[in-house]
Amino acid sequence: MTMLLLRRAVQAAVRTNHCRSFSASQTLNRRKGLVLGVFEKEGEEGSLHLTEAAAGFDQALSGKLSELLKISGPALKKGKSRIFYGIHEDFPCVAVVGLGKSKAGVCGAENWDTNKENIRQAVSAGCRLLQDLEVNHVEVDGCGDTQSAAEGAVLGLFHYDELKSKKKTKVTTQLHGSADLAGWERGAVYAEGQNLARLLMEAPANHITPTAFANTIEEKLAPHAERVTVNKRSQAWIEEQQMGAFLSVSKGSEEPPVFLELHYNGAPHSKQAPLLLVGKGITFDSGGISLKPSPSMDAMRADMGGAATVCASIVTAAALKLPVNIIGLAPLCENMPSGKATKPGDVVTAKNGKTIQVDNTDAEGRLILADALCYGHTFSPRAIVNVATLTGAMDVALGSAATGVFTNSDWLWEQLHKASVVTGDRVWRMPLFQHYTRQVTDSQLADLNNIGKYSRSGGACTAAAFLREFVTAPHWAHLDIAGVMSNKDEIPYLRKGMSGRPTRTLVEFASGLAHHS
Ligand code: BES
Ligand code: ZN
Ligand code: ZN
Repeated sequence: MTMLLLRRAVQAAVRTNHCRSFSASQTLNRRKGLVLGVFEKEGEEGSLHLTEAAAGFDQALSGKLSELLKISGPALKKGKSRIFYGIHEDFPCVAVVGLGKSKAGVCGAENWDTNKENIRQAVSAGCRLLQDLEVNHVEVDGCGDTQSAAEGAVLGLFHYDELKSKKKTKVTTQLHGSADLAGWERGAVYAEGQNLARLLMEAPANHITPTAFANTIEEKLAPHAERVTVNKRSQAWIEEQQMGAFLSVSKGSEEPPVFLELHYNGAPHSKQAPLLLVGKGITFDSGGISLKPSPSMDAMRADMGGAATVCASIVTAAALKLPVNIIGLAPLCENMPSGKATKPGDVVTAKNGKTIQVDNTDAEGRLILADALCYGHTFSPRAIVNVATLTGAMDVALGSAATGVFTNSDWLWEQLHKASVVTGDRVWRMPLFQHYTRQVTDSQLADLNNIGKYSRSGGACTAAAFLREFVTAPHWAHLDIAGVMSNKDEIPYLRKGMSGRPTRTLVEFASGLAHHS
């Protein structure tokens, strides 16, 4: 009976507070924590002002919180946190986090909204401190921007320990107080989308094979079956489509390739031209016969980051019911050396009939994307965005600061840039000069060479120029995400590991198209 009452109470809590679901047995020994924010006072070095939620909490405790903040040390700096124990009956641990200046806004130099970034960073730090104390349910101050607060909480708490026996405390999160709940929920969905991409990228290549990748995405989309169709195309289909460039990569591996095709129909007028997203899906890149050196080869399990971020964005768009049509394509395979593998100097024929001399089998991403781009044009999309961990040269150029965008469309650039300022997951425009095209169209044996003729110089740009040879659409962008693939400690609200970037920017971009078409 008690169990029944408790379960009912929990169900009611889930309904009214919209916290993530938890089982009744978990509730019995639930340790609750609270994250509250403080801003730096404008023009007054070293003094603070509490957010609305923190001020409400302070008032309920007759000013105890502000008193403790004063006596416990210097004014909380941006991103720093402090924990107070036993000050409130419901919350044994309260983390107070520094949010920096309250009117920071969009920074032209940094190309992001500093306020939003500060909130993500501070909330994530507070949530993690509580997680380390084995607190398993955290209420979070909306800090004046509930979407950013939710993103900070959900991204900050993510940790890949699927395959470890000892796991970190699972923490559920909930908005504290009565601020903008819709914003909080949107933020949680955006962040969960990025976490799905992180999960797929981090997972070892023997777990996430092309088949397992496709099955996982199919499962994630199952709740949205009404608006989504999933096609897992087999090797026979790929052969029928004459995707010779894709097949030249997959044939070195024992794992069968899959061409994953997702259709999300969210637009009220179902005939609306779709946004086409194409993601590189190399589930492991050994380099093939042009074998990579072994140190850090393990990171090439994330060489399906393009496919992961594209598919996770579509899962997120479906969860948000965005009123837009999106088609997602992910050529999935391994790049392996074997007796059947493509050899340097081999010539292969892409779906559009162009011949390619494969001088380096490690430049495989552009080969599988070439065929996917040709196929994608058959849907007459309003815009094409392909996403790929394409070149080490991209990492050399920008590091992890921003995704490189190569595009033939000023309009598309503006949409992507605008979205990235909101998400803080930045993009930076790169050149698509004929200068680079000439370096890939000069091939001894074929129409194209899969590497630039001046070796590694401008490697990210020659790769983009190669892809452009398979594009006829007026609004196309290639996003090279090799530099942002993983995080050490540069993005403070992402732990070390595969980043899932730029999933939130793709979702924000799709949302922009949906709402201002
Ligand atoms: N997957 C790699 C690119 C990469 C490198 C992604 C580091 C993430 C981190 C890609 O397939 C590759 O190997 N590219 C070659 C191209 C070269 C042979 C022209 C590279 O960048 O060295
Ligand atoms: Zn490669
Ligand atoms: Zn690769």
